[in-house]
Amino acid sequence: MPPISVPTFSSRGGTAIPALGFGTSPMTGSFSPDTIVAALKAGYRHLDAARKYGTEEQVGEGIRAAGVSRADIFLTTKVSHENLHTADFHRSVDQSLKALQVDYVDLLLVHWPNLKIPLGETMQALAKEKRDGRARHIGVANFTTGLLGEALQLCPEPLVALQAEYHPYLDQTKLLNFVRERGLVYIAYCPLGRGRLFSDPVLAEIAKAKGRSIAQIALRWLIQQKVAPIPRSSNPQRIADNTKVFDFTLSDDEMKRISALKRADGRIANPKDRALPPWD
Ligand SMILES: NC(=O)c1ccc[n+]([C@@H]2O[C@H](COP(=O)([O-])OP(=O)(O)OC[C@H]3O[C@@H](n4cnc5c(N)ncnc54)[C@H](OP(=O)(O)O)[C@@H]3O)[C@@H](O)[C@H]2O)c1
Repeated sequence: MPPISVPTFSSRGGTAIPALGFGTSPMTGSFSPDTIVAALKAGYRHLDAARKYGTEEQVGEGIRAAGVSRADIFLTTKVSHENLHTADFHRSVDQSLKALQVDYVDLLLVHWPNLKIPLGETMQALAKEKRDGRARHIGVANFTTGLLGEALQLCPEPLVALQAEYHPYLDQTKLLNFVRERGLVYIAYCPLGRGRLFSDPVLAEIAKAKGRSIAQIALRWLIQQKVAPIPRSSNPQRIADNTKVFDFTLSDDEMKRISALKRADGRIANPKDRALPPWD
């Protein structure tokens, strides 16, 4: 089976972001460059890294081992919430570029907000990385509508993407509408609910009817909302299977049935060790 060619979603300013990406957080301890090779072989061209994951070295090694041209890869990394003062921020990007062995990333994100550090200072540092060419595009992750609105006002360069949790168990209607109105691309993390979706009877029924896997149904549900999922897998077969989401369509009724699975306790990533504004 040849690798897929991934379509893109565009921000209002015209930044094209591949509609499917590959997550690189180390959920089970070790993370091998072979996983990145498998992902690039399967056709992913959008890789989601972060300084915090401790896997940037392996991601960089995998990119080089796969022999895919740097220019053909949309590479994201993130600066952690502890490093949002100016000097820390730039040091974190130095470390990321060194670990990834690249001169620039395609998307640089603030990983989580930090209410103890002035947002204006962080937005200046983020914009400087873009102006200096170390980040082609910039954005934020885990920001609420209120914080994103502030960030858009404070940042001297355009923000093109918001990355936040989204899957059928989590209602993100308010955030998604806000992001769309402002012309950003929504990138969905935990798109498979970190495995929680796989025993869902409604998803299983739709998957059976379509002759697809539950993972493919969940990813397709996001893509049909013009949201770009970044699933992770350590298994080459599942890595490839998760790319087969551009050759079928969910009906309006199927989309609605999946949206109705939202639950009050659906959120997975919710750190309790720091002050965060209430979720939307
Ligand atoms: N910005 C943020 O704060 C933030 C937070 C969380 C995550 N992220 C990003 O989002 C990425 C994805 O999120 P995630 O890794 O937390 O969760 P996820 O992608 O929703 O779920 C990953 C889990 O699903 C399993 N899986 C994948 N494909 C499968 C398939 N086809 N069938 C059965 N099981 C399958 C994987 O197991 P196997 O490995 O065994 O296949 C793994 O246990 C992360 O890697 C990271 O890059 C960002």
